[in-house]
Amino acid sequence: MSSRVVLVTGAARGLGAVIAARFHAAGYRVVLGDVAFDAAAATARALSADESSAFALKLDVTRKEDFASARDAIVARWGRVDALVNNAGASKVVPVMEITAEQFDQVIDINLRSVLFGCQVFGQHFANQGEGRIVNIASLAGQNGGSATGAHYAAAKGGAITLTKVFARDLAASGVTVNAISPGPLDLPIVHESVPADKLDKVVASIPVGRLGAADYVADAAVLLASGNAYFANGACWDINGGLYMR
Ligand SMILES: NC(=O)c1ccc[n+]([C@@H]2O[C@H](COP(=O)([O-])OP(=O)(O)OC[C@H]3O[C@@H](n4cnc5c(N)ncnc54)[C@H](O)[C@@H]3O)[C@@H](O)[C@H]2O)c1
Repeated sequence: MSSRVVLVTGAARGLGAVIAARFHAAGYRVVLGDVAFDAAAATARALSADESSAFALKLDVTRKEDFASARDAIVARWGRVDALVNNAGASKVVPVMEITAEQFDQVIDINLRSVLFGCQVFGQHFANQGEGRIVNIASLAGQNGGSATGAHYAAAKGGAITLTKVFARDLAASGVTVNAISPGPLDLPIVHESVPADKLDKVVASIPVGRLGAADYVADAAVLLASGNAYFANGACWDINGGLYMR
């Protein structure tokens, strides 16, 4: 039997690249979808120099047709796809009273429309084949309103958690599960790039476990939720936030 296949969006760098690497280490063939194609291709080659077990494709998660093209390209190349990780996301911090229509739409598109289209296209494909796994990368911001990330981002991530439940309910009878992971601040480049050092010290001090989260653990949670025997985890949101938010 050929090994399982996963598509990870936003996999050129950051958490997506770590998720791709952990799926690859777990024996998956991995497709890295990103708008940053060259960077995604370099990340893919680091996993599989001859592209036999990892390759990149250009995918803009705000475009439904890109998900459909990705699905077709993966099936044409490897004959199957078993899991989708909707990881791509972005935010630009703007005070809530100053967010413009354009800024709001852009952040909603990347973080929420992406989940809608990914779940529509791959959810239907998985339902047709009678099995499949979708993992949506949400955020603590979507649960507590966020702090340093922006209201549009927090609203989009809250929406991603809600869409997770809707698709989980609708696709369950077809053998498809849909779950979310909601990380708190992770030890990743974007966090160090976007949060000034003195502010980051305060963020870390506010986390009950006293340190930023490990991306590879979040990635392993995605691998676990995507596994074949994960059928009973459905519509859940797995909080990984160092104790910042308990419910
Ligand atoms: N870093 C954290 O602490 C943290 C915490 C909670 C949740 N998250 C979530 O984890 C995910 C990954 O975040 P990250 O920290 O690795 O961010 P990042 O900015 O380092 O990486 C995001 C990736 O998504 C890609 N991308 C952006 N727009 C895209 C589009 N339209 N289509 C396809 N790809 C696109 C980028 O090119 C990049 O490779 C996001 O959903 C983010 O909201 C991150």
